[in-house]
Amino acid sequence: MEFTQFIISSDEPEKFDGDLLVYCLAQSKNGYPEFTGDVGNILHKTFELGDFCGKSGEKILIYPGETTDCRGFNARRIAFLGIGNLTSDISSVECREMLRKLGGRIAKTSESVKASSIQVMLPILDVVNIVQTAECISEGIALGDYRFGKYKNTDPDQQSFAGIRKVVITTEKSKQSARRGMRLGEVAGKAACLARDMANEPANEWTPNAFAVIGKDVAKKYAMKCRVLEKNDMRRLGFGGILAVNQGSTEPPKLVILEYNGKKDRQTLLLVGKGITFDSGGISLKPPLGMEDMKYDMCGGAAVLALMQAVGEERPDLNVIAMIPATDNMLGGSAVKPGDVIRHYGGITSEIVNTDAEGRMVLADSLAYGIKKYKPDCVIDIATLTGAAIIGLGHHYTGLLSNNDQIVKRLMDVGMRTGEPLWRLPLGKEYSKQIDSKVADIKNAGGKAAGTITAAAYLEKFVGKTVWAHLDIAGTAWGFTEKSYIPKGPSGIGVRTLLELIRSWKEIRQ
Ligand code: BES
Ligand code: MN
Ligand code: ZN
Repeated sequence: MEFTQFIISSDEPEKFDGDLLVYCLAQSKNGYPEFTGDVGNILHKTFELGDFCGKSGEKILIYPGETTDCRGFNARRIAFLGIGNLTSDISSVECREMLRKLGGRIAKTSESVKASSIQVMLPILDVVNIVQTAECISEGIALGDYRFGKYKNTDPDQQSFAGIRKVVITTEKSKQSARRGMRLGEVAGKAACLARDMANEPANEWTPNAFAVIGKDVAKKYAMKCRVLEKNDMRRLGFGGILAVNQGSTEPPKLVILEYNGKKDRQTLLLVGKGITFDSGGISLKPPLGMEDMKYDMCGGAAVLALMQAVGEERPDLNVIAMIPATDNMLGGSAVKPGDVIRHYGGITSEIVNTDAEGRMVLADSLAYGIKKYKPDCVIDIATLTGAAIIGLGHHYTGLLSNNDQIVKRLMDVGMRTGEPLWRLPLGKEYSKQIDSKVADIKNAGGKAAGTITAAAYLEKFVGKTVWAHLDIAGTAWGFTEKSYIPKGPSGIGVRTLLELIRSWKEIRQ
């Protein structure tokens, strides 16, 4: 992935001598495909035959040569992709999503013919400008060109496709705007793919220490600070939640912290991502069916770590701290048991009634510590926290819970813009009551009703008055609405939402 090169050019399409030249064509009012350049002859034929008129989803592949109508083209192949009738009133949000899906289709088309060098002619659209057009198509290509084949031996008879090596984006309009957009899309797409890579690793490879290794790599590359709190530090500081979850494990826990200092006088955003590298449920063991998917229980952590790569690339005028509490949740003679009482960082005690509600335990310590240490203006946590989020919202919306309407509005907006929609659920003392404990300050599970809300109510106890939002990505971290640019496995959800929030950051107050 990282090796895909994105470049802008204003060269004539005829000159391109790579594997695949792509035209993205809309359907005009009279039903005919709109086009620019020298492909009119071919389009006329495909239209007469009824094979292609620019409808969304249509695709034609042609092979230029002396005997075809596209003499003078040097590309090995030309693809026409239909993008539909855009004259009807579509919103910019819909148009951006259409362009990302188009980018995904370009990637899929490239894969189907093993095209590793491609040139894409940017369409000119009414609803979005050239920056956004270049951004969303590039992002779609970067996201759609994702594969994880690391552990598969390749079939010797089959030539495997390693991905697109070079993407040339061509525009007749401002090259500068196109370049700006392309970079935005490239940075966002590549960061989301990095998060997918971490999630795809099996839990025997992706241990808490892997977060520390990649955290240090990212920090080194972008001159950030990386601190890794070890088990001893956690004991010293009193991280009772993380330590309890880790008790049944043979792998030591890590709290990986990345500090990006944008500007001293600017606001500080703290991001906390759940990094449970495998969630067996612990003594409150999960049923076996589908338990292998619980290696994805670190997708929140992967999202905030991958996001820091994008932050490093773009260096925004804002301070960003990323924290990943990482451990697996295992069972054994030393594991935490239902009925045990633990003490979180900061002193709040908790009765563990279900060892499978481990995410909130590691997040609670991190939130309390991060807020005390970094005094952020805003804190956002992101976690595959509750199965109830899947029951409530399915695999299409991320659950959003917060103590601040302003951050909710911003997150909902950037979620729409990036194609990662969120939906708010309420908080309130009626729900908090569900986690009252007879023996401790709180208990770690609040029963079957409103599982997503009571989990957030637990976290709420640790954020005080700080502006805070919680993203429950249990339904969207993998198995997210399938699209040309979202694969079946881990989606990389959250990376692009949070990046867009940072890009459009404005001061926030309680
Ligand atoms: N990681 C799970 C939540 C989850 C389940 C995410 C399925 C994605 C798919 C979390 O740690 C968990 O087990 N939550 C429990 C909480 C309950 C015991 C209060 C749940 O949702 O059942
Ligand atoms: Mn669990
Ligand atoms: Zn979990």
